[in-house]
Amino acid sequence: MKSEPMTGATEKFRRILEGQLDRVEKLRSAPGWIDYRELKPLRIGVIGGDGIGPIIGRAARRVLEEVLAGEVNSGRIEFRDIEGLTIENRAAAGKAIPEDILEEIRQCPVILKGPTTTPRKGDPWPNIESANVAMRKALDLFANVRPVRVPGPGIDWTFFRENTEGAYVLGSDGFMVGKDLAIDFKVITRPGAERIIRLAFEFARKNKIGRVTAVTKANVIKTTDGLFLDTFAAVAGEYPEIEADDWYIDIMTAKLLDPARRTQFKVFVLPNLYGDILTDEAAQLQGGVGTAGSANIGRRYAMFEAIHGSAPRMIAEGRGEFADPFSMIRAAAMLLAHIGFPEKAKKLERALDICGNLEKKLAVTGRPGGATTAEISDYLLETMADPGLDAKWERLTRG
Ligand code: IPM
Ligand code: MG
Repeated sequence: MKSEPMTGATEKFRRILEGQLDRVEKLRSAPGWIDYRELKPLRIGVIGGDGIGPIIGRAARRVLEEVLAGEVNSGRIEFRDIEGLTIENRAAAGKAIPEDILEEIRQCPVILKGPTTTPRKGDPWPNIESANVAMRKALDLFANVRPVRVPGPGIDWTFFRENTEGAYVLGSDGFMVGKDLAIDFKVITRPGAERIIRLAFEFARKNKIGRVTAVTKANVIKTTDGLFLDTFAAVAGEYPEIEADDWYIDIMTAKLLDPARRTQFKVFVLPNLYGDILTDEAAQLQGGVGTAGSANIGRRYAMFEAIHGSAPRMIAEGRGEFADPFSMIRAAAMLLAHIGFPEKAKKLERALDICGNLEKKLAVTGRPGGATTAEISDYLLETMADPGLDAKWERLTRG
């Protein structure tokens, strides 16, 4: 006869399997890609979030409104503020994203989002699911695209992190079996792996990049990472002009630091948790997570955000107005490219390069003495308005 904890756990596991098999079915009948040109207006939701989120969110919105002024005036694009996705409200509702806010989010096919606090055991908040993870799942934002560029040493990487499964999909559904056994789950599905891997290869093909690299730990995590790698090999077969190689996550964290090897990598595709870890390391090489933007892409929705957290310490110490908005403005540049304004995106990226890496007339330090969020945003907007922007960028990049 089964023991009490065993019976409870078996029942929970049965429900998890049902849920995941259901998800596989849904994945198999996924909707088509949204066409932004058909939306009038195309609504862009802006979510402040927690901590420094509303401050850097405001800065990013200001830049976007400036860049898209013509489109806003003509009614082609509309900005909408989505208030209330704060840890206080989420804790009070006991939900990662309260229903009414999720409803508002669903009205906006494109979202610019500030960082949101992710509670953990022992925090003053209930240990609810991360709003990021919940949003990625709710809107099926399966591709987390994270570019990292460091022109000097020749680093030009684009990470395609699987964003809706792996160790995250049941991250809040693990359980204790009795008092000494803790169980979590990692899930990879064939259609889930296939869609992210295909997106990485399509990106490589479109940009004439000759190599796509998968990162797993398939030598140890044999079943899930094994399926990811099998799927990688199958998809790679359809792209004979692109070299496909695979590495394990541990050695890859080392190789990102190896100047002789790292410039050979271009496009990475990897399961969720490995992507989470490797992209923070990569962003550090570019100047820190504060310099990196991130796109969360699905077939019907897309959400753009900084890759870092809400920096509650900055707020507690009264340093919020010295927060660096460039991570979020980089995300805004990705947003522009994604909704069909690649030229505007390029201009914004060049201005970000000039202000943040090349010319650096002002610098944010995160504390008094450094530039404020508003000052650095002014500097960026002036740089972008300069008709000599491209010439300046080329001169500074060469020099
Ligand atoms: C990220 C973050 C999130 C993640 C956290 C906030 C849940 O680290 O976007 O990389 O783990 O995905
Ligand atoms: Mg992360």
